[in-house]
Amino acid sequence: MRYSLRFIIPLVIVLAAVAYGIIPLVDQLTLKWFSRDIDIRAQLIATTIEDPLAPLIRAKDKTKIAALFGRVTQDERLFALGLCDVAGALLYKTPSFTGPVGCKSLEHGSTIMELPEGALHVTAYTLRDEAGVLGELVLVHDMSFVQRRSADTKRYVFYLFAGLGVLISFITVLIAQVSWRGWVSGLRALSKGEGLIRPLSHFATSPELKPIVKDLRELIRDIETDRRARDEDRIGWTPEALKEILHSELAGEEVLVVSNREPYIHVRRAGKIEVQLPASGVVTALEPIMRACSGTWIAHGGGNADRDVVDKHDRIQVPPGEPAYSLRRVWLSKEEEDGYYYGFSNEGLWPLCHIAHVRPIFRSADWQHYVAVNKKFADAVVQEAKSDDPVVLVQDYHFALLPKMIRERLPNATIITFWHIPWPNPEAFGICPWREELLAGLLGSSIIGFHTRFHCNNFVDTVDRFLECRVDRETSTLSYHGALTAVNHYPISIEWPSRWLAQQQPVAECRVAIRKRHAMPPERRIGVGVDRLDYTKGILERLLAVERLLEMESRWVGKFTFVQIGAPTRSSIEQYQRFEADVRAVAQRINHRFGSDGYEPIRLLIEHHDPAQVYEYYRGADFCCVTSLHDGMNLVAKEFVSARDDERGVLILSQFTGAARELPEALIVNPYNVDQCAAAMNLALDMDEMEQRDRMRSMRGLLQEFNIYRWAGRMLIDAARMRQRNRLVQRLRDSTTPE
Ligand code: G6P
Repeated sequence: MRYSLRFIIPLVIVLAAVAYGIIPLVDQLTLKWFSRDIDIRAQLIATTIEDPLAPLIRAKDKTKIAALFGRVTQDERLFALGLCDVAGALLYKTPSFTGPVGCKSLEHGSTIMELPEGALHVTAYTLRDEAGVLGELVLVHDMSFVQRRSADTKRYVFYLFAGLGVLISFITVLIAQVSWRGWVSGLRALSKGEGLIRPLSHFATSPELKPIVKDLRELIRDIETDRRARDEDRIGWTPEALKEILHSELAGEEVLVVSNREPYIHVRRAGKIEVQLPASGVVTALEPIMRACSGTWIAHGGGNADRDVVDKHDRIQVPPGEPAYSLRRVWLSKEEEDGYYYGFSNEGLWPLCHIAHVRPIFRSADWQHYVAVNKKFADAVVQEAKSDDPVVLVQDYHFALLPKMIRERLPNATIITFWHIPWPNPEAFGICPWREELLAGLLGSSIIGFHTRFHCNNFVDTVDRFLECRVDRETSTLSYHGALTAVNHYPISIEWPSRWLAQQQPVAECRVAIRKRHAMPPERRIGVGVDRLDYTKGILERLLAVERLLEMESRWVGKFTFVQIGAPTRSSIEQYQRFEADVRAVAQRINHRFGSDGYEPIRLLIEHHDPAQVYEYYRGADFCCVTSLHDGMNLVAKEFVSARDDERGVLILSQFTGAARELPEALIVNPYNVDQCAAAMNLALDMDEMEQRDRMRSMRGLLQEFNIYRWAGRMLIDAARMRQRNRLVQRLRDSTTPE
């Protein structure tokens, strides 16, 4: 309204000024028009009475002249009549013919005489007959009606301008309101960032918003380009660099991580509590980040001694002995764990997202638990959050519903969800009975991350297929119910240098140690595989490739052993139990076929190994085999490269892992092609040291640069960028809110 008044007041002033200028003009104009009118009347009256008057004048018949004058002056506007002779003497007059008019003062034609009683219009008309001039007929008209009319006109003009003012003001206010709404809704859209993605239809029709949108876009683009450049320039990605980002970009912001698997599991063995580090890519990646940036990690407390070591808030400071961050444990009942973790997550979503030809199983009871457990973790996030806008890093397929649940309770949180496993195409994902709920849940995130652009595209296609959502493929942004989610790829990586490397013996000693441990001669060639015993890892295919190698290249029989470390995993699931049995059976068969006294071509180590032990195998082996049938990234491949500071050893890597896109110097194989895998093993065993070094050096160079700190740093920089953009738009919205 204040803005409207700023327009209306000047408008009223202008109108008043115009009216003030116009009214005298109108006055003059009416006077002119009426004078001309009276002139014509006077002429008409004079010519009309000239004929009957002439003989009366000649006959000097005053009575008849008086009678004629009397009749004529009955016209209410004709105020008086007089008759002057040629010498200028007044011969006859009506009673109202007043003194000042007289004969002497008269000129031929019309004049207006201003008297105290009012203005008079006086016309002198020369009367003639055939004999000549008879005198001057003086017609006096009362002009007061002109003044009356002029006053009326002035009033009407005043009303007209006043009315005009009101009308224009009304229209102005109306237009201002309507366009204000346009502005506000435009700015609202801006605040949601929509206008920054693509011009909205009302932006197109709201020209006044265009400059703001344009400026904002440019500003944000500049900020982002600047940031990106800094990001790319930052070659030494270290924990310190990550800390610096947290301080400079997210100063004072708290970081919460949510994952199902906890980084430290307390287990009771032989009456003693031990700490175990789980075999989990998620944990491998996030643990060094949490060490760098503190904060709180919320996870399922799954160890049998987990409850014994937490405080009354279910928290414990970790890593044990060198506390750097807080671990908040969430407890699940057996039913919850069965339904949410084993059931929906690992019998449903896990096979759904991996192309491993294992049929997903969806049970509604499992779904109910999945919903309830997501809710339980949302409660924990809200309890742990110290501010209303924390940065929450949600990890993996166990928590597809969590982003939306957090968003509902902490609307200002920046939620980054990272999906560590592949995302299938829409047809594959579409078989899930709760696909819409899962997608809507994920779209509560500010950013959704995948390892590869390919998985991002699959996700965007899936959302486009199943939800009413605005999809901007150019910027890879989704707008669902007015909220924006950016879909980006962040290839996950490992700590560089790995902390496990520091405790390792030199490579030569590791080679000796593992050969000794398995009673092998020192010259035995060794290939290694390190996986959870999961059907997606291509372990069976790998064993079959070993068999094929021995079949095709008998020179390796007795000289080569493949060591497969298999971490037991999800053992309550029948599919995993069957898989373990199959692996054991195949290994046994091959060992039976090619083994001999003291020689086993395949050494299966199905038990938990800590990272330090695993690193010793990486260093002591001639090659490492990663043959996943489908894998989001696969960090074993990267760990093997990081372990080989001697720049030796060969990596055989499945083309169906995210890692294959980053490590083309590996021997890339199709795990379904057993012959090809066997040939790759043969090539690896024969590869000369120079080639091993060249390949390894190149891969190590890449991992050094694209390490886990860069992965986290890029996500956090994007989060900071998003927060800054939201705050900027919020400020803009506040400053344009009508009062
Ligand atoms: C994959 C998943 C992780 C999971 C890990 C181990 O890497 O992406 O979320 O933690 O497997 O599986 P587990 O079921 O033992 O946690």
